[in-house]
Amino acid sequence: MLTRKKLALGTALFALAPSLAFADEVASPDGRIVVEVDADGEGKPFYRVTRDGEEVISYSTLGFNLTDGDPLRRNFEVVGVTRAQADETWEQPWGERRYVRDHHRAMTVAFAEKDDTPRSFSVQVRVFDDGFGFRYEFPQQPGWDVARIADELTEFNLSVSGTAWWIPAGDWNRYEYLYETTPIDAVSTAHTPITMVTDTGLHLSFHEAALVDYSGMWLKRIAGTRFRATLSPSSRGAKVVRELPFHTPWRTVRMSDDPAGLVESDIDLNLNEPNKLGDVSWFEPHKYIGIWWEMHLEDSSWASGPKHGATTENAKEYIDFAAANGFRGILIEGWNVGWDGNWFGNGRDYSFTQAYPDFDIEEVARYAAEKGVRIIGHHETGGNIEVYERQLEDGFALYERLGIDAVKSGYVADAGGIIACNADEADPCAEEIFEWHDGQRMAQHHLNVVKAAARHRIAVNPHEPIKDTGLRRTYPNWVSREGARGAEYDAWAVPKNDPGHVPELVYTRMLSGPMDYTPGVLSLEGRGATQPDLPSTLARQLAFYVVIYSPIQMAADLPENLAAWPQGLDFIKRVAVDWDESHLLAGEVGKYAVFARRARGGDAWYLGGVTDEDPRDVSLSLDFLYPDTEYVATIWEDGEGADGLGDNRHAMNVREVIVRKGDTLDIGMARAGGFAAEIKFSGE
Ligand code: NOJ
Ligand code: CA
Repeated sequence: MLTRKKLALGTALFALAPSLAFADEVASPDGRIVVEVDADGEGKPFYRVTRDGEEVISYSTLGFNLTDGDPLRRNFEVVGVTRAQADETWEQPWGERRYVRDHHRAMTVAFAEKDDTPRSFSVQVRVFDDGFGFRYEFPQQPGWDVARIADELTEFNLSVSGTAWWIPAGDWNRYEYLYETTPIDAVSTAHTPITMVTDTGLHLSFHEAALVDYSGMWLKRIAGTRFRATLSPSSRGAKVVRELPFHTPWRTVRMSDDPAGLVESDIDLNLNEPNKLGDVSWFEPHKYIGIWWEMHLEDSSWASGPKHGATTENAKEYIDFAAANGFRGILIEGWNVGWDGNWFGNGRDYSFTQAYPDFDIEEVARYAAEKGVRIIGHHETGGNIEVYERQLEDGFALYERLGIDAVKSGYVADAGGIIACNADEADPCAEEIFEWHDGQRMAQHHLNVVKAAARHRIAVNPHEPIKDTGLRRTYPNWVSREGARGAEYDAWAVPKNDPGHVPELVYTRMLSGPMDYTPGVLSLEGRGATQPDLPSTLARQLAFYVVIYSPIQMAADLPENLAAWPQGLDFIKRVAVDWDESHLLAGEVGKYAVFARRARGGDAWYLGGVTDEDPRDVSLSLDFLYPDTEYVATIWEDGEGADGLGDNRHAMNVREVIVRKGDTLDIGMARAGGFAAEIKFSGE
């Protein structure tokens, strides 16, 4: 054991003998990725990762600082190593693909302090062909009941250089930023997923899986290309307080030679627990419209008064439009008491059961049912989770009684401005304290909401959420969320979502799971003439339905604007929202992305492509089609002279072409442009 540790530390020797086999290492099924876990000569737990024999993550420490005890950092020894492997396929009730393969090799390395009263923990590693994950497990042990974690000492000490795509953590916003593209050694503190392409073309993305009752992980660059996990803060002092036994979320790293390998990796889902809700067939993936864009345009208000948007009459008009155009859902925001005055980051006045007097919720629900349309409920909290949790049961019970089976929630408060209770034992709500959107309290809160909603057979879609860490596998009623800059910014923000934004989302935020981006602004108009133009072609808005995965997809624009662009509306009506297969056909991180997805339970394929500020021609191989079968492809593409950054943003060409397996489809995208396509059996 001692000799091996000395060798592990001796970098020169290690370099001379790269194939040296350490006992405490585990390789991916294809043998390309090798993760080593050990304790060094000072008893510091560490890990190291190679791919194809090249070091990607060099010696990186593992451990914790505690608020009430010695750090778990040094003086440890390995006291046991166990191994396992798995190759299983499981089925998603809804998703980007129906079947997910979990093929990995696992190793658990147990560490104990070299002490008379040793504390212990283990590091569990799972290595897949497209990346790896590891987490800490704290077993029950004498003399240590509660872990109060000041911070994690987990490092990601990269031995590579290249480019990173990331958004800042610890700043005022939650996750709603335009992406930074910088050298890896110029990142500051980043949210995950953070994606990198190395100078040698290796694609990497760092994230976490199964964030349960723990604080979200930020990646802080310490120096050069050395990063350390830093946990989202808490006003309670310790960032995480947990009774033993417990385990942390998985720290995950996707690794691939190409962008498709990153996008199609399922390691984060595989590292989550299987479905705990059983049959969730009551959730139907769907498309929806909403009393929503008109508020973002300031044509109407969430607040009561002469401009109130959520009136009975207005809701009925939207319901009529939804029924006439096949939208299952209609979101109604601003129906409930609490929006008057300062609701932003406050939420003290919200009622989740009391409607404004000009909104007859019973009558609207009756009318919706008569028309075969479902209302989508709305629970804006203004970040006040205590006010919300107190009313959670009543709020969901009301919705369930009214036949409302999907709820969008919201946590509009600046980062660090979530209102929680001090949780003092004597008087748990004597004082308000302020927490972060991704701290342990919020990780707990979101699961409280998801579980309460499930009891009422309601699906949830939080905005200003905690990031997605694959918990939809365990709780498949957690169907979507925001967690990035969505289409709302195109209504009122300067700058708007720039042409690179969606191509950047595809390779960063979207790696974590579905996003309620709320696409479909067919008018390409934001708020007022003083605003800069929305940088998009019409065809690009359609592409979003395929490129940005979510099992619920909004058509965001005003009904009259959707009706004014019938070719666009036609595609939105036709496109599927649930898939058997999904593939990235072509793309480059941050620049462009083309997806092909096959509709769940069907044979039709839908394609979508977006580009950044550069126009781009793509040649797409249709090898994914069945052999010996004739298909008709309908293509919605940027028309002659279309320019997403110019005057001709609406130019769109719709054409049909007969295609077969083996054909190539050539499509041009304008700058800030895109395309969408439907490929069906011909004659259908
Ligand atoms: C921000 C959300 O992202 C948006 O969709 C919603 O309309 C407002 N908050 C109000 O809840
Ligand atoms: Ca938002």
